[in-house]
Formats: sequence, C-alpha cells, structure tokens
Amino acid sequence: MSAFLSSRFEALEPYVPGEQPRDRSYIKLNTNESPYPPSPGAIQSAAQEAQSLRLYPDPEHTELRALLAKKYGLSPAQVSCYNGSDEALMLCFMAYCDKHRPAVFADITYGFYKVFAQVNGVPYRIVPLKDDFTMDVPALMEAEGPLFIANPNAPTGLALSASTIRQIALARPDRIVVVDEAYVDFGGESSVSLLKECPNLIVVQTFSKSRSMAGARLGYALCSEALTGDLNTLRYSINPYNVNRVTLAAGAQMLRDDDYYRACVKKVISAREETARALSEMGFFLTASRANFLFARHDKLCGEVLYKELRQRGILVRHFDKPRISDFVRISVGTPEDMLLLTGAIREILEERQ
Ligand SMILES: Cc1ncc(COP(=O)(O)O)c(C=O)c1O
Repeated sequence: MSAFLSSRFEALEPYVPGEQPRDRSYIKLNTNESPYPPSPGAIQSAAQEAQSLRLYPDPEHTELRALLAKKYGLSPAQVSCYNGSDEALMLCFMAYCDKHRPAVFADITYGFYKVFAQVNGVPYRIVPLKDDFTMDVPALMEAEGPLFIANPNAPTGLALSASTIRQIALARPDRIVVVDEAYVDFGGESSVSLLKECPNLIVVQTFSKSRSMAGARLGYALCSEALTGDLNTLRYSINPYNVNRVTLAAGAQMLRDDDYYRACVKKVISAREETARALSEMGFFLTASRANFLFARHDKLCGEVLYKELRQRGILVRHFDKPRISDFVRISVGTPEDMLLLTGAIREILEERQ
C-alpha cells in the first residue's frame, strides 16, 4: 500500500477471484463459468459490432433493455444494465446503505458483499446460516437495513422459494431487499414476479453463468421505476458507458437465442445431477445445489487436500479457507466429459488414501 492511498481504504480486503492460471491447460471447474460458448449468433453479432468500436456504446442500453423488459413482462424503465452483475450489486450498496442503514447478509454467501460494504465505508450485519447451511429466515426478517440475498446462495447452492422471499420483502417494506439471482436459471425460483407487490425489491441477474458470457461482463437489475432511477443516477455519475458495444450486441442476440440457452442449461443440470450421484456414491456429503456448481465434503479428505490433489492432476476447483466451510470444495459443473475426468480423478485420490 502506498503512502498516498486514502486512509478510508487502509483496512480494505479486496475480493479474491477464483484463479485464472496460465501455466498449463486445466479443466476449469473453479469460477462457475459455463462450459459452453455463447450461441453462434451471439459470437457473430459481437464480431460484427467490433467494426463500430470507434463509437461509444448506447448509454441507455435501449435494445437490450427492451428485450429484457419483454422477457420479464416489465416496462423498460424497470430494467438497467451493468458491467457484470457485480457492478449492479456495488451500486445497490452505494445507493441504499449508510451508517444508519447497515447492509445485512449471511455469513456464508457471495464474498463480494462484505467487500462492497467495506469499499463504500458502510457498516454491515452478518446473519449466520443455520447449521444445515439454510438461511435463517426469521433472523433475516428481523434484521434492519438493506438485505442482500444470493438465491440460490453461493457457495452452498441452496435456494429459497419465491414465497419466502415475498415474506421477507413484505416483513419490512421500508428496507431494500436485493435478491442476487446469478444462478437462478439452474433450478432456483426467480422473484421477478414479486416486483409489482414489493416495491422494495431489486432482482439482479447476470449473463455470466447460464448465458455463457462471463468474459463479456453483462448483468442487469429489475426493480421499480423509482429504484431504477436511483441506480441510473449513480451509474451516470460514475460510468454512463458502462456496457461496451460488443457486449450489448452479443447479449441481445443471446437473449433472442433462447433455445440455445435452454439446451445449455439442461446439459449443465443433467451433468450436475449425474456428478452429484457419483460423488455421493463415493461417500461425499453434498448440499442440494440448484446452481451450476456442487458443494461437497468428504470425511476422509479435507477440502484443501482435495483441491491441491486435483490441481496437480490439471483440474481446478475452488476451496474456501473460511470458518464452517473449509472442509468443502466447490466444483463448477462442466461438460459431461469434464465431470467424468473429475470423478475419475477423485476416485483415484480416494483410493490412494485407503
Ligand atoms: C452470487 C453471485 N453474484 C454475482 C456474481 C457476479 O457475477 P458477474 O459475472 O455478473 O459480475 C457472482 C459471480 O460469481 C456470484 O457468484
């Protein structure tokens, strides 16, 4: 840290993204990316749009917002687009949290929430998950302050029903509830249908997972027109051209190519279930993941050792050296071939330790 850095950031602990190593080729099951490319049409749209890169992009994301609004039965004024859903989440912390309104989130959840609170200099309150890693819903309802819920949660993959989110949002209509639905397409239940009834609700989604566009950085927020207005005020105060032309073009085409997206999601869910079966047969405990990853623990193999052994064999998974979950690994769901290699390697590692 240099002597010039503002004292505001002295204690800031930045988010640690999953590793993206370049030393050799790995089977990458560590950052919940899609194992499938964007649709051929989306790739073509991106290439075509690259011709226009000398021009700034549309700061209002008009075409993409219209498509998203149609898809969800909302007005375009309820939709805003971001440079990844991380940017939407950051703006929610910035817009709605302050010293009187501490952010509220679970102890085991998306690691960025704590960083967003810290970088914005706002206090936060942690509501621990229950012993079985499910959300403590009464405690969440009781806690005052803007609430951030990943649904399905990461890294557990466990999901709340939309009716539970409804209860939570209605319990305290005077506070914002942000539902981060990064993984919802893999078997969760979206809260978008609650927007009419819950003006304090913000649903955040991403193209990074089910729509195979993590590298393009595209996320969006769905909420009331008034809340969208708040987010736009901040967005226009920081980076009006936040989504680049190539990403906007690819994203719009990806939305049109709905059948392609559905087929990819179906393959991922089927590989997830198949892998979960194989791992539980090997003695793993797994949470009931509704996401594109599995969260697994084995009594005879600690999370860190499993992570290291797999890495040596060219397979990357994620290990979190954190209280309550250090025994686990999080395994992103790849192609069926990737998952066969993974389960084969794990079988071998377990046999070596017999
Ligand atoms: C729960 C959760 N929310 C949001 C994100 C951010 O996604 P994006 O790539 O859209 O910024 C992630 C990324 O892994 C995530 O796990």
